[in-house]
Amino acid sequence: MLAIESSCDETAASVVKNGREVLSNVIYSQIALHTSYGGVVPEIASRKHIEKINQVIQEALDQAGTALKDLTAIAVTYGPGLVGALLVGVSTAKALSLATGIPLVGVHHISGHVSANYIEYKELEPPFLCLVASGGHSHLLMVKDYGEYEVIGMTRDDAAGEAFDKVARAIGLGYPGGPKIDAIARQGRADAILFPRAKVAENEYDFSFSGLKSAVLNYLNSCRLKGEEFSQADVAASFQKAVVDVLVERSMHAAESTGCRKFALAGGVASNSSLREAFEQECGRRGIRFYRPSPGLCTDNAAMIGAAGYYEYRRGVRHGFDLNAVPDLKL
Ligand code: KG4
Ligand code: ZN
Repeated sequence: MLAIESSCDETAASVVKNGREVLSNVIYSQIALHTSYGGVVPEIASRKHIEKINQVIQEALDQAGTALKDLTAIAVTYGPGLVGALLVGVSTAKALSLATGIPLVGVHHISGHVSANYIEYKELEPPFLCLVASGGHSHLLMVKDYGEYEVIGMTRDDAAGEAFDKVARAIGLGYPGGPKIDAIARQGRADAILFPRAKVAENEYDFSFSGLKSAVLNYLNSCRLKGEEFSQADVAASFQKAVVDVLVERSMHAAESTGCRKFALAGGVASNSSLREAFEQECGRRGIRFYRPSPGLCTDNAAMIGAAGYYEYRRGVRHGFDLNAVPDLKL
């Protein structure tokens, strides 16, 4: 299966065999292009996808030692994401499918993130719990079957990755914030500043990160007003600890109340070293099997879309040429 991903700022293509074996995984990252703007500029992302996508797909086919005619299906992310960026992948996949007669399978981006775990763990099968934490999403899911999800909890406002990016910008670390906070936090004290761990009254499994973000901004402002220096490392470590605590607490609560003994991480934030350690420890303490994709499979890539696409294909999912980009596609 050829898989294509272009929902945000990575132009990616991959060839995946039987959903679990990655024959190639090519990613053209646009990060350098967007850094000077402090975040992803949708119009620039779309234009770069158009420039790069054919080359990335050809590289993926070459590295896998395969050609279009050998493919069983073409999988593509059709939402959620930036509409202009998604359209490039969707249009390319439709064109390839039309030209070759190879079936087209549209894939949900979050289902892709979850499915990165199938690549890493050949034995993993649903049901299991999965926390998907990325730049655009924070979802606590029960994976009932391949491609079948029940949303147990989600963020009420900012996604976890978005909070990382905004706080990184506020303390002068730049974009993308997650990896930079992860790195500098190692030199800071996580108990230096007590930031809030918000609970959401209506749903005990939901998250909210906008209050935490405001608390960090207030802390920085009060330092400035007092003419005091703040420690980037201490703010990063204390903020990161607050995010990790909340994600671990809600997740373990869900594991205990559902009785599910398998827990997986997914999404860009899942590559955070402190988050991985905390989950490993907490799952270990409770005898819950813990799964997490390697960092390169946590952030956006097309191999995960190939894994999810394979199970969609097996379920009989085929899309027509009316497949469109759906920026707010629901799970
Ligand atoms: O999954 P992803 O590549 O794209 C989306 O679907 O959103 O996630 C990107 C997000 C960004 O917000 C980035 O700052 C965050 O994941 N991220 C991290 C780390 N690496 C990436 N956050 C915390 N720690 C990291 N090491
Ligand atoms: Zn993503």
